Amino acid sequence: MASSNIIFPMILALSSLIAGISKGQSTVPVVPGLSYSFYESSCPDLEFIIRGHLWGVLNNDITQAAGLLRLHFHDCFVQGCDASVLLDGSASGPSEQDAPPNLTLRAQAFKIIDDLQALVQSTCGPIVSCADIVALAARESVFLPNGPFYNIPLGRRDSLDFASRQDTLANLPPPTFNTTDLLNAFANKNLNVTDLVALSGGHTIGRANCASFTNRLYPKQDPTMDQTFANNLMLTCPTNTTDNSTNLDILSPNIFDNKYYVDLVNHQGLLTSDQDLFTDSRTRDIVTTFANDQNLFFQKFIDGMLKMGQLSVLTGTQGEIRTNCSVRNGDTLNLGSMVQVNQQKQMLSR
Ligand code: HEM
Repeated sequence: MASSNIIFPMILALSSLIAGISKGQSTVPVVPGLSYSFYESSCPDLEFIIRGHLWGVLNNDITQAAGLLRLHFHDCFVQGCDASVLLDGSASGPSEQDAPPNLTLRAQAFKIIDDLQALVQSTCGPIVSCADIVALAARESVFLPNGPFYNIPLGRRDSLDFASRQDTLANLPPPTFNTTDLLNAFANKNLNVTDLVALSGGHTIGRANCASFTNRLYPKQDPTMDQTFANNLMLTCPTNTTDNSTNLDILSPNIFDNKYYVDLVNHQGLLTSDQDLFTDSRTRDIVTTFANDQNLFFQKFIDGMLKMGQLSVLTGTQGEIRTNCSVRNGDTLNLGSMVQVNQQKQMLSR
């Protein structure tokens, strides 16, 4: 912790500078109920607390950034950005976490969110939602591995329930989807073709298990794959049941850059859903443009994240602010009523 005491003021200065120059960076509209200044008076240090903690965590292990970014995507695509993915299962059924697409979310990502929430709660009280913390952690997970910085509207509230296994499966696209399937899945969320290609660029960091891509190796190799790349993947996953994993972006797996698109142009995209974006004529030119222009990719990625990050959000008096991200307040002793009082206080002070 001693080193973060020295570094924290530096981050603070840098953050203010960046926050200052990046205001008004996107034309994506803010959903009613959310605002860029939501916690300005009630928790002014919120963003610095989150960045300070994540700076330490990611400095120690930058690969955790991928887990946090994917967590936000899986939260927002199922029932909206309401932290429903964080809820433990209950008597009413298994949680979203138990549904197959979420089984490969990193356990460490959930722990990092819990730690962040405890830190924020100890400074500001129970007024910041888990959904906002997930969104902020995802933003830092783009920025800290060298990606772009962007401000995000805040004020999301946490859901009272999680989605069923069926709804989770229906909303999270599997890696075997082709571009037609992906365009449909994204259109269902009001996300367009550019959003699809830009947001898929999240695969510039992180890893995938053999089970997510061996459909491209066995029983027959996907003809759109570069041969050397395919040979190496067969060494990583000698059978379609091998338990192993590899990087999504072969060129720079821990840096948030546009190399994911260069991979696709080189026929070295890992998942069917990745490589098909270069095969399909509707998305090919966008892939090529992003491969040649990182700034444009960053700009479109920010737009996509702002849209995705505001999907079906709960605001105002909807939902609640959980005191423990994995359990709804009603299910934890009597803390719920304490939170209500604090929330009312916060509303009155605005
Ligand atoms: C376009 C549809 C998408 C599909 C089909 C998809 C599918 C997948 C799959 C199968 C994995 C690997 C899981 C595993 O084998 O462990 C993965 C990992 C990942 N996805 Fe996606 N994804 C999509 C969109 C996104 C979006 C929009 C983002 C964020 C903006 C994102 C961020 C990530 C990250 C960062 C990882 C690595 C996670 C880690 O290393 O723990 N994905 N995705």
